[in-house]
Amino acid sequence: MKEDIDVLRRIVERRRSITPTMYNGREISVETIEKILESANFAPTHKLTQPWHFVVFKGDALVRLGEEMARIYRNITPDEKFSERKSGDIRNKAPRSSAVIAIVMEVHPHLVPEWEEVAATAAAVENMWLTATAYGVGAYWSSPAIIHHLGDFLELNEAQRCIGLFYMGYSDIELPPCKREEIKTKVRWME
Ligand SMILES: Cc1cc2nc3c(=O)[nH]c(=O)nc-3n(C[C@H](O)[C@H](O)[C@H](O)COP(=O)(O)O)c2cc1C
Repeated sequence: MKEDIDVLRRIVERRRSITPTMYNGREISVETIEKILESANFAPTHKLTQPWHFVVFKGDALVRLGEEMARIYRNITPDEKFSERKSGDIRNKAPRSSAVIAIVMEVHPHLVPEWEEVAATAAAVENMWLTATAYGVGAYWSSPAIIHHLGDFLELNEAQRCIGLFYMGYSDIELPPCKREEIKTKVRWME
């Protein structure tokens, strides 16, 4: 039991947002990606709606994802705000990663409110993030406005929404600091 707590605590405390510019290009095996996805399925889910769905991008599909993101950025950005540099950064982000997982949430309005589906899907993503950390895989949840225009590309149905992209890659960088206010500033006890 004490060992479990030590291991869990170490993984939770080592989880960080590790972004594509920090990745070293080493491939993540399909087996490891599958383990990361399996952990999502253990998240809590009200009325067992299991709202999380995932689309995994690897290999050439990463290039197609980057191109689609850049295309959407061009479409939704007014000319005076458009930046070629930003467009290039958007296009290159996915191909710099070893894999990207589109995070999709499915609503079930007759069963639970949408916020509960977001919460359950976020819990699933945290499971994936912790499992990635345990495998030494760097990961990060990205949520630019572009994700709300990915429905057709991801072939989502009417009840599904993309709520982020989970970028993954191995990295050689030192763990960035965890910047947080002390937890006691967020807690009130009532006895
Ligand atoms: C729902 C959600 C969406 C996020 N979207 C972005 C994003 O679009 N861009 C970004 O740089 N980080 C994003 N992040 C990551 C946060 O910036 C990151 O968690 C925060 O800076 C703390 O760093 P840490 O994850 O290393 O502890 C997101 C995190 C969450 C939970």
